[in-house]
Amino acid sequence: MTTHPPWYYNDVQQVGTDFEDVTQVEAYDRNQPSSSAEKSQKLVTQLGILEGQSIIDFGCGTGTFAIQAAIAGAHVYAIDVSHSMLTFSQQKAQLANVSSRIELHHSGFLTYEHTAAPVDVIVTQAALHHLPDFWKMAAFLRIANMLKPDGIFYLWDTVFSFHPTEYQTRINEWIQRVAKPPCEGWTTDDFETHVREEYTTFGWILERMLTDAGFTIEMANYVTPEYAEYVCRK
Ligand SMILES: C[S@@+](CC[C@H](N)C(=O)[O-])C[C@H]1O[C@@H](n2cnc3c(N)ncnc32)[C@H](O)[C@@H]1O
Repeated sequence: MTTHPPWYYNDVQQVGTDFEDVTQVEAYDRNQPSSSAEKSQKLVTQLGILEGQSIIDFGCGTGTFAIQAAIAGAHVYAIDVSHSMLTFSQQKAQLANVSSRIELHHSGFLTYEHTAAPVDVIVTQAALHHLPDFWKMAAFLRIANMLKPDGIFYLWDTVFSFHPTEYQTRINEWIQRVAKPPCEGWTTDDFETHVREEYTTFGWILERMLTDAGFTIEMANYVTPEYAEYVCRK
């Protein structure tokens, strides 16, 4: 086991929303339209995930993507810092009859030690914003090391692409546009917590980090001024 220096970031802590809280986990599985089984299945196809490939899913949450990749025949290392998320994923994987192809690890971007062969694809969705920018860079370097040459890294997250001078109006407009009443989805309070306590960054910063980590960005899709996806090749 690697011993980290005293200045190393503790990435097993919960930042912002507490995903150790079982009610948050169940709400997450209901509320997160970005990671439905249908969207995950499409992403599996888009990334060309095939039987026999190996995949890492960082911040796997309730396991929706990991399950779809396993259904396609891949071996999935599903990594999360929340025991509650991992328990939920395990139950869903058993129901989908793919638990033998999913290895769950209680670990994070900065602490997971991949001891098997380098993998074909690494995916992370809606999880990287839990790390401050300096540690995102460290995470990208670690991810590059876990991938085969030519391997694919797919990143989807909250990413700001508006001009920095507009941040006050853009954040207010975003929250007004997307927040839902309690019990119908993420609330104003959830989005305010996200902006205040989590670490969404600008796209131009992420692009420079990805290229400095040795990736070629094959696709950068700024879906809205607050969300983006990247397909990168090592
Ligand atoms: C918003 S959920 C996204 C889950 C899933 N990827 C999806 O798209 O539905 C974020 C997940 O990232 C996990 N997480 C937070 N910090 C992490 C870290 N440093 N390393 C790995 N996972 C982390 C949380 O526990 C949570 O399960």
